[in-house]
Amino acid sequence: MKVKTIIAGNWKMNTGAKEAGELVEELLANIKTGAYGPAVVLAPPFPFLADTVQRLAAATKGRQQWMVAAQNCHQEEHGAFTGEVSAPMLKSLGVQACIVGHSERRQYFGETDTAVAKKVSALLRHGLMPIYCCGERLDERQSGRHREVVAQQITTALGNLTPGELARVVVAYEPVWAIGTGVTATPQQAREMHAFIRAELRRIAPGVADQVPILYGGSCKPDNAAGLFAGEDINGGLIGGAALSADSFAALVRIAQEAKSTA
Ligand code: 13P
Repeated sequence: MKVKTIIAGNWKMNTGAKEAGELVEELLANIKTGAYGPAVVLAPPFPFLADTVQRLAAATKGRQQWMVAAQNCHQEEHGAFTGEVSAPMLKSLGVQACIVGHSERRQYFGETDTAVAKKVSALLRHGLMPIYCCGERLDERQSGRHREVVAQQITTALGNLTPGELARVVVAYEPVWAIGTGVTATPQQAREMHAFIRAELRRIAPGVADQVPILYGGSCKPDNAAGLFAGEDINGGLIGGAALSADSFAALVRIAQEAKSTA
């Protein structure tokens, strides 16, 4: 079974209401992706999710492949968790996916693998697609521990999933040293880690591991994407900075489409 190619844009804490709406409209005008092209996922900040869902719904023709994702969620369904947003709340808005375990959440908000594992389960329980982020820090790579670190992250967050659950997960490999730094992993480094992640997923659920999309994230831009997306186990990208410009995000969708149609 061919793995789905996905280009996901994580806007992080950027844009205002007007700008966010304009960006969605520009993306809709610039990106042509049919039933066989890459899926396009937009992850705007929480306050702009509903508007993004509505804009995509209003432009549904040929947009079956478009999805809206949140950038985080809480693991509980409701209760006294001031400032948090739960998976069923996202679901009720028409949001279909959610990024979890992003390194910025781990670094600045103290999220642990165990908390992230609960978020993954909550999303699956409510029919949302988790986009699970993993990746090593620079010191971990320099000391040759990157595989060990990523294996641990994958095992804790995804190790207890049933095959049916794992089949609904997307993994994003985002080496922390490449995020927002302008330093991207070389195609060789990315290929090697994606193959390693695929092998880890096979240990969890061999029957479905080959259909789990594994996205690369970290300073992925139109000028370096072709080499990355050509990798066999690199099934698209989770894009930060370059997702804030309709031109560069649309270019990344085109590059992914070309890389995968010739693969
Ligand atoms: P950049 O593309 O800005 O490096 O961000 C990557 C990222 O963190 C996406 O989640």
